[in-house]
Amino acid sequence: MFPRYLINGCDIKKIHDFCDCIIIGSGIAGLSTAIRISKYAKVKVLTKSNLSESTTWYAQGGIAAAVKRPDWWKVHYADTIEAGQGLCDSNAVEKLVKSAPRMIEDLVELGITFDITGGEISLTTEGGHTYPRVLHAGGDATGEEIEKKLVKYSGTFSNIDFYSEHLAVDIITDSGRVAGIIALDIKNNSVHIHPCSNIVIASGGIGQLYDVSTNPSISTGDGIAMAYRAGASIKDIEFIQFHPTVFKTNDGHLFLITEALRGEGAYLRDSSGRRFMVGRHPKAELAPRDIVVREMVRVMSEQHLHFIFLDATHVPEKLLKVRFPNIIAKLKENGLSLTTDLIKVFPAAHYLNGGIKTDLKGRTDIAGLYACGETAATGAHGANRLASNSLIEGLVFGWEISRDIIRKIKNKNKCSNDRILAKINEFAKSIGSGKSMENLPPVNISELIPDFRKMMSTNVGILRDEKSLVSAREYINNTAKKYLCPVPANKETIEFANMLTVGSLISKAALLRTESRGTHLRNDWPKKDDTSWKKHIILKNDESHFEPVE
Ligand code: FAD
Ligand code: SIN
Repeated sequence: MFPRYLINGCDIKKIHDFCDCIIIGSGIAGLSTAIRISKYAKVKVLTKSNLSESTTWYAQGGIAAAVKRPDWWKVHYADTIEAGQGLCDSNAVEKLVKSAPRMIEDLVELGITFDITGGEISLTTEGGHTYPRVLHAGGDATGEEIEKKLVKYSGTFSNIDFYSEHLAVDIITDSGRVAGIIALDIKNNSVHIHPCSNIVIASGGIGQLYDVSTNPSISTGDGIAMAYRAGASIKDIEFIQFHPTVFKTNDGHLFLITEALRGEGAYLRDSSGRRFMVGRHPKAELAPRDIVVREMVRVMSEQHLHFIFLDATHVPEKLLKVRFPNIIAKLKENGLSLTTDLIKVFPAAHYLNGGIKTDLKGRTDIAGLYACGETAATGAHGANRLASNSLIEGLVFGWEISRDIIRKIKNKNKCSNDRILAKINEFAKSIGSGKSMENLPPVNISELIPDFRKMMSTNVGILRDEKSLVSAREYINNTAKKYLCPVPANKETIEFANMLTVGSLISKAALLRTESRGTHLRNDWPKKDDTSWKKHIILKNDESHFEPVE
C-alpha cells in the first residue's frame, strides 16, 4: 500500500553519530529497557511526544504478579492461558508469570511505591484472576506512579540521550539487518538519520484507529507499521481487546473506569437492574474481558441501549475513597458519585493482543530489531489478554531484550559499525534527492481521520463479518491511494499512513480468521473452531501464513 520508506525525496537535515541501541518509545517497556541497557552502553530514546506521555501513564488497575501465597506462578499461568482462549504460547506465558515477582522487586528498587494495607502489600483482583494478585499505586493511579518514577530515574543516567518530539518513521535495513532509523523532528519537520545496530520498538498500541477508545493520542500503531514495511512478521493482529467499562464525560471525553472496581465488588446491571453476568460465567462480572464485552453487546442490542450500568453503591464508601480517588474525582466533575449513582458505561477499544512477532528474547525476524510492550506479540496474551498482564509483560520482555543486546554489545566488533555507517551514507544519498516535499498538494488529514476511525469501529470493531471487512479494506486502499501517495513529511500524515497500514493488516487477518475466538467476534462465523483455527495468523510482505501454537 505504501512504499518501503514512507519519506522519500526529502532533505536529510543530519546524519547522527553511530549508536549501539535506539529505543522507540518512553512508556514502561521503552524506559525500563533503556535503563537496563544504559548500564553497559550508550542508548538513545526517541519519543514522539514529551517523555511521560504514554499509555503507561493512564494505567489504573495495576500490575499482575503472584507475590503472595496461596497464589503462585502456576495459578497465574493457568489464568493467563485460560483468558488467551487457546492461542497463548505456553513458554511465553511461563516466562511472563515466573519473572513477574522479580520485576516488581526491580520497580520497588527504583522507588516505585505500591499501596499497602495493614502493613502488607495491597492486592486486588480483576477479570479472569483466581486470586487477588494485582498490585496498585495511588489507589487507581498505578501507571502515573510507574511512569513518573521511570522518567525521573532514567533522567539520572548520562548514558541515555533523549529525543523528545522525534517521530520514528522507518527502520533502515541492510541485507536483513538493522542499520539505522529515519526520524522526524516534529518541532521543525526536519528529517534525521540515526545509524545503529540494534533497535527496540516499544511504541505502544493502536487505540487511535477507533473512534471509541481508552488510548491516548500517541497510540497510532507506528511501530507495527514501520516493522511491517521493514519486512518483520506481524502476528495475530485481528485480536483487539475492548474494555467493558468506559465512561463519557459531559464534555465528550472518554474515561476508563478500572476493572478493579468490579474486583472490589461493583456489579454490571441491565436496564431492569438485573446482574446479567450472573449465570453467564462462574466469575460473573469478573469473567475475562472478552466474555464480559460479548455479554454487554448482547444485552445492549436486545435492550436497545448504548450503555450498561456500573453499580458500586453497595461497596463501602471508605474503601472506594482509598482505592479509587481519581475515578471519584472525575465522576464528581461530571455531577456523579460512585456511592449513590449508577454509572453509564460501554466498551471501547483498549489493547492490542497481537503485534510485531517476537521470540522469547524479544527478537523479531530482522537481525537487530526487537519489540516489547503492547506493540509486540510475544505469545503471552493469545486471543485475549488477562487484565493487568500488560505492564508486567513490558518489563519482562524488555528485560530479556536488554540481556540479549548487552551480550551482543560486549562481543561487538568495530568493522560492523563501519559497514553500517557506509550503508547509511549510501542510503542518505539515494533518499535525500533534495526535492522539497512542501510542493505536494496539501492534504487535510484532520478531516479524514475521524471518518476513518468511525469506519474502523463500524466495520472492524467488536463485531465483524465478511462484508464489513471487505468494505473496510476497500475504504483503506482507496484512501491511501487518493491522499497519501506520496506521504508528505509531517507528523499527522505519517501517523495516518501508519494507521491505514495497521487498519489494513487488522482487517486482512480478521477476514482470514473465519471463526469467533477471544476478542475476535465474527457474526458470520459465531463459533470457535479449534480444528481449523487453533493457529496464529502471520502477515509479512503482503503475504500471510499460519503458524502452530507452541
Ligand atoms: P506506551 O506506554 O503506550 O508507550 C509508547 C511510547 O512510544 C510513548 O512514549 C509514545 O510517545 C512512543 N511512540 C509511539 N510511536 C512513536 C514513534 N513513531 N516515534 C517515537 N515514539 C513513539 N495495563 C495493565 O497491565 N494494567 C493496567 O491497570 C492498565 N490500565 C490501563 C488503563 C488505560 C486507560 C489504558 C489505555 C491501558 C491500560 N493498560 C493497563 C494497558 C497498558 O497501560 C499498556 O498496554 C502499556 O502501558 C503499554 O506500555 P508500552 O510501553 O508498550 O507503550
Ligand atoms: C483496568 O484497570 O481496568 C485496565 C487494566 C488492564 O487493561 O490491564
